[in-house]
Amino acid sequence: MIVTTKKLYKVAYKKFAVGAYNVNNMEQILGLFRGCAQSKAPFIIQISKGARKYADKRMLEALIRTAEQIFPEAIFAVHLDHGDEEACYDCIDSGFYSSVMIDASHEPFDENVAITKRVVDRAHAKGISVEAELGQLGGVEEDIKIDEGHASLTNPKEAVEFVRRTECDSLAAAIGTSHGAYKFKGKQGLRFDVIEEIEKLIPGLPIVMHGSSSVPVEEVERINAAGGKLDPSARGVDENEYLPAAKLGVTKVNIDTDGRLVWTRVHREFFRDHPEQFDFRAPGKIFVEEYANFIAHKNEKLGSAGQLDAVRATL
Ligand code: G3H
Ligand code: 13P
Ligand code: ZN
Repeated sequence: MIVTTKKLYKVAYKKFAVGAYNVNNMEQILGLFRGCAQSKAPFIIQISKGARKYADKRMLEALIRTAEQIFPEAIFAVHLDHGDEEACYDCIDSGFYSSVMIDASHEPFDENVAITKRVVDRAHAKGISVEAELGQLGGVEEDIKIDEGHASLTNPKEAVEFVRRTECDSLAAAIGTSHGAYKFKGKQGLRFDVIEEIEKLIPGLPIVMHGSSSVPVEEVERINAAGGKLDPSARGVDENEYLPAAKLGVTKVNIDTDGRLVWTRVHREFFRDHPEQFDFRAPGKIFVEEYANFIAHKNEKLGSAGQLDAVRATL
């Protein structure tokens, strides 16, 4: 059942984090629903502009609506990831999305506020909530690449003004993470001090953590042993920090890269071990199973595993 993102936030806030998983194809959608059924977890299925272009937005909607029938017990929200104004309006008007993200974080503060507020007004008129971004994560998001020198953490005092003026429902905050597989060097890590400060100044506001993949070393090693060429120093967020962050208000945790690593490992190993094969359903079947296990594992770490009944009770 598709529910509002707000409903999930209400149950989760400061208790656990809801996993927000990017999807691009049928196998990922099947694995995601299966993994959340396995772990009895609510979830957010998120679709980027790139995904809407790759698979066609209508194809993704049809796949998700079909998955909803195959897994009638599932409770989830549908979210636009890193939208611009045009994509946000398209999703708001579609009647399919629970929430949208307007990402105008690359704009100067006042322009970010103005764009976000326009989207909030259109979304709220239709009962859809809005995630907005302040501060800039490093790495690649959509077609914009932010180098480390231009990444900047969210200023909590600015966040107060931003949330007040835009009336956004949740805040994507730059709290030390970045998109992709190469997040941290040396002693870098999640900035709990910034999370804490935002929570203190804006109590009750769900914080969204982008760039939350953990980039497991074993996964990188297996990919490289099967012919991949990932930088072995790739490092992500410590999965054991998801729950402590959730207790401070991080309510939505965005994960994409780790799922891509599962796909890459499964397919590289399969074709390394079975070079004579060419039926894509054979590795596809393994991927769906592995992806489901991966999702169930993430939900355990996020604390969302086992929370389905608590959400159902509020419906
Ligand atoms: O933050 C970006 C997400 O990982 C989506 O990536 O734009 O390549 O679909 P994408
Ligand atoms: P990762 O690249 O860490 O998976 O982050 C995904 C994300 O933030 C999607 O919005
Ligand atoms: Zn993101």
